[in-house]
Amino acid sequence: MSKLIVEGEHRLNGVVHIHGAKNSALPILAATFLAGEVCEIENCPLLSDVHAAIKILEHLGCRIEREGHTVRVDASQAGGYEVPDTLMREMRSSIVFLGAIAARTGRAQLSFPGGCELGPRPIDLHLAVLRQLGLCIDEEGGKLLCRVRGRLVGCPISLSFPSVGATENILLAAATARGTTTIFNAAREPEIVDLCNFLIACGAHIRGAGEGTIIIEGVDRLHGCHHRVIPDRIETATYMGAAAITGGSLLLKEVCPEHVQALIPVFEETGCQVTAWRGELLVNAPGRLRRIRTVRTLPYPGFPTDAQALIMALSSVAEGTSVFIETIFESRYKHVCELMRMGAHIKVEGRVAVVEGVSTLCGAPVECTDLRGGAALVLAGLAAQGITEITQLQHIERGYEAMAETLAGVGAHIVLQSGYGADT
Ligand code: UD1
Repeated sequence: MSKLIVEGEHRLNGVVHIHGAKNSALPILAATFLAGEVCEIENCPLLSDVHAAIKILEHLGCRIEREGHTVRVDASQAGGYEVPDTLMREMRSSIVFLGAIAARTGRAQLSFPGGCELGPRPIDLHLAVLRQLGLCIDEEGGKLLCRVRGRLVGCPISLSFPSVGATENILLAAATARGTTTIFNAAREPEIVDLCNFLIACGAHIRGAGEGTIIIEGVDRLHGCHHRVIPDRIETATYMGAAAITGGSLLLKEVCPEHVQALIPVFEETGCQVTAWRGELLVNAPGRLRRIRTVRTLPYPGFPTDAQALIMALSSVAEGTSVFIETIFESRYKHVCELMRMGAHIKVEGRVAVVEGVSTLCGAPVECTDLRGGAALVLAGLAAQGITEITQLQHIERGYEAMAETLAGVGAHIVLQSGYGADT
């Protein structure tokens, strides 16, 4: 078992380079299987979730070459249609492979994706939309046995909620379906636009990416392409948070400021000065943060649920009381207990959390409960008096590349202690 040891109360100052977006890289890697030729993906972050996606591609028969942040996927000889339970359980977003596999091979055999720390994460929408496109799905003994009679057929699809994953599955299944698919109430996240741009570079006909209605005219086949993954907006939010909570100043490079538009006013409300240029973002923090009146998580372009825990860490040391309303996931406050161990004053009732800022947190041993909750504990540790020891780092490794090194590089006193003692 590894742990992060953070000594708090050191002001951060310097430059941080943001990696490629995890939530773009994963569906794009699934899409390389559909492209069926050689695709080169640049700016692919080195994360455990990305490794899991690559393992699935290898299992399906793709040949993978990696060099730094570039992944080359040769799917020309790949004909697999089954993903074993162990790989499905490694990450929940493995469900996005379903659309790609079914469209390319005409069948698919997957088990239900891994459990999730964010409360129940059903896949009913994914299955419903794929059925609408003509995929026959039998659910048997925890497995999804899927077959296409002939070819998938495009149709109008109205989503009851703009689910990111379900929109991705439709895009993957519809890109090579017969006829036109129109998605109403599609997710508008930048990662959806990135996936569409990747598919378009592979020869797909897609209009309306980033809007509520997306039109996909199916083509007979796709081809290989070269694509660069967009910057990770949640990693960007995390380092904005690191500057804010330490009263520091960080210049973030290789970011996309438009993708964090919903976050900038929140940081400004805390008293931070945020300056955006093309591809760069400078955050200058005040000595003491101010409270944020209300944070309500919403689908993009609203405030991202993935940044809720990060901003909660900030408000736990801000002057005044902040209110959070989590509307996307049922159970996304698991980090609260750990923040409270460090002295935060937080009350949760259902989907609402009320945070009464304290003047200082105290370092304590804490456990990551999920990816973004884990990152929130790191932020809290950077501000806390004394030493914070953070364990269960596998959650953080799903979404942050070299987090400890990056923070240490801008003045944090943070050490990653690998594999101490026996993991028994
Ligand atoms: C994606 C992101 C995740 C982010 C989330 C919301 C990836 C890999 N993950 O997750 O980081 O927090 O978007 O922005 O891109 N739902 C159903 N049935 C379904 C599908 C979803 O009820 O079939 C519900 C979920 O339980 C959840 C809500 O819809 O309450 C949002 O889920 P969705 O937008 O699908 O998120 P993911 O694609 O899983």
